[in-house]
Amino acid sequence: MTAGPLVLGIETSCDETGVGIVRGTELLANVIASSMDEHARFGGVVPEIAARAHLEALEPTIRAALAQAGIALDDLDAVAVTSGPGLAGALMVGLGAAKALAIALDKPFYAVNHLIGHVGADLLRVESGAGGADAPLELPTIALLVSGGHTSLLHVRSLTDDVELLGETIDDAAGEAFDKVARLLGLPYPGGPQIDRVAADGDPRAVRFPRGLSLPKDLARHRYDFSFSGLKTAVARHVEALRDRGEPVPVADIAASFREAVADVLTAKAIAACRDLQVPRLLLGGGVVANARVRALAAERALAAGVALRIPPLSLCTDNGAMIAAIAAQRIMAGHGPSDLSVSADSTLPVTVVQA
Ligand code: KG4
Ligand code: ZN
Repeated sequence: MTAGPLVLGIETSCDETGVGIVRGTELLANVIASSMDEHARFGGVVPEIAARAHLEALEPTIRAALAQAGIALDDLDAVAVTSGPGLAGALMVGLGAAKALAIALDKPFYAVNHLIGHVGADLLRVESGAGGADAPLELPTIALLVSGGHTSLLHVRSLTDDVELLGETIDDAAGEAFDKVARLLGLPYPGGPQIDRVAADGDPRAVRFPRGLSLPKDLARHRYDFSFSGLKTAVARHVEALRDRGEPVPVADIAASFREAVADVLTAKAIAACRDLQVPRLLLGGGVVANARVRALAAERALAAGVALRIPPLSLCTDNGAMIAAIAAQRIMAGHGPSDLSVSADSTLPVTVVQA
């Protein structure tokens, strides 16, 4: 059995209400309630709807996590929560709940950075050893986090106090681009899985869509940054032109070509960071990691570059509370004290702040 503090983690930075319970690096519970369906008709996450849904989902989700872990609230050593980055209103709901729990139980309170949580997800193991990769996470590592809310490339030297942001999207997040392009192609929300599905039958070389911030002049200033809004516009123009000419829209080919452009840029920049910084390790996180082409190209390029690739199980790649609890447990084991109860939601919390 793994030793370590028993921590409950709450995650409400976007549309998933996540509650996880860990003992050190052992995963005891991971329960998610998603408000995704409520956002479907808007084609993207609506912050106010997400915040309200968190409010309704939190209590039952906490109860379900306790039941899954087979523990009582009194057994906990600490309560952890995401304090940023994310949607301010959504974050506030989780913070309020975590503070209330910590005060009522008289337990220490840890406010954790969401992005670093994604990296911490890779630490978690179920007792049988069936979860996560087999070997423990090695540092330093480059981490590529891609979801509906973020696209960030990190250099992680220590999970408790040394993380550097190498680059991030300057406009849309990669998942957001999938969702917007899916809408253009008449596919339902969330668009990522839909595009992935139809792209399987398409030709990725049918259309050469632009690779954002990949030209030499852009690389000089934005070597590790991403941009997907130009790509989205290029797809829109392409579809428009076909419709104007009264030609059929080859949805599978366009989806495959678009998916290829995203996977190409994401993996090229991540591997470039591994090479430049001589860090032969790459960790992927976030919902877009479910993408078949992103996974395949990452594996191919990592192998060619001699980079060890790690991808946590998908249930831990998408937003969840266990990853937040995992980082708090690391901080506790490294001797760091709790956060102040006055900590508030910070929608742009920098990655240099592991614990607020
Ligand atoms: O990490 P995640 O569950 O959380 C939020 O961002 O809230 O990521 C969701 C995002 C959505 O934009 C969704 O379209 C995208 O991940 N996604 C995918 C795939 N599955 C989910 N994108 C591309 N390919 C997929 N298979
Ligand atoms: Zn996330």
